[in-house]
Amino acid sequence: MRLKNKVAIVTGAAHGIGAAIVRAFAREGAKLVVGDILDDEGNALVAAINKEAGAEIALYMRFDVTQAAHWDKAVALAESRFGKLDLLVNNAGVPGRPGVEDTTEESWNRTMDVDLKGTWLGMKACMPAFRRAGGGAVVNTCSNYALVASGRATVYHSAKGGVLSLTRAAAVEYARQKIRVNAVLPGVVATPRNASLPADWAKTLIDQTPLGRIAQPDEIAPAYVFLASDEASFVTGTSLVVDGGYTSI
Ligand SMILES: NC(=O)c1ccc[n+]([C@@H]2O[C@H](COP(=O)([O-])OP(=O)(O)OC[C@H]3O[C@@H](n4cnc5c(N)ncnc54)[C@H](O)[C@@H]3O)[C@@H](O)[C@H]2O)c1
Repeated sequence: MRLKNKVAIVTGAAHGIGAAIVRAFAREGAKLVVGDILDDEGNALVAAINKEAGAEIALYMRFDVTQAAHWDKAVALAESRFGKLDLLVNNAGVPGRPGVEDTTEESWNRTMDVDLKGTWLGMKACMPAFRRAGGGAVVNTCSNYALVASGRATVYHSAKGGVLSLTRAAAVEYARQKIRVNAVLPGVVATPRNASLPADWAKTLIDQTPLGRIAQPDEIAPAYVFLASDEASFVTGTSLVVDGGYTSI
């Protein structure tokens, strides 16, 4: 129960890595506002968690992380239903189109809006609530693609590089307010977004990963539990890479 008495907002949480984070946080005793734009999957996840807990420990809320007003509603929901807010996981993301020339302005703007602006908006909305709670912790989903190039994900690399810098900037800005800000940098994970990964690209990624396989979402979630928990009380501004060794070569 490493997150007992903690209240969290997790975005992009209807499936994939976000759903694994929500399940792990629930197992560790957290109460949750689960945000996404996929209502059916989000509601089903929350229903399953509450059934297993035998109590309403999770609420689903449809919200788009690019909309400041949605963030305000999510914070208000956490505080009104669970009494406070301690934790934020900025996990929502969209990959975007591949190369420099393939990338349209629409794709650039969408990925930057969801992955980077959404992360900033989330922190902006939650910081006052963390102060009201006496402190807090943010975990931003970044990517090992913030550290290395792949040759085929221009806007995604750019957005996640921004998330890494934003994480460090916010960590320094808020450290004296007892608010920690960290990032998790996953490698390739078996989620719905990667279901249609071209076979040749999947093979290349596996070949380049020392552990020789793609991760399952449940192998990524424990990093979030650690960074959100009081066990990480002296950890801020860090980037925890969980990529099977991909960036160690
Ligand atoms: N899967 C990977 O290999 C991998 C690797 C590194 C980092 N990541 C990052 O992990 C996070 C989750 O990835 P995933 O693979 O589970 O992705 P996914 O595409 O399977 O799930 C992303 C979730 O974000 C939600 N979402 C998209 N736009 C949204 C918006 N505007 N507002 C609210 N929710 C929105 C989607 O509905 C979806 O539920 C992303 O930030 C992604 O960039 C994934």
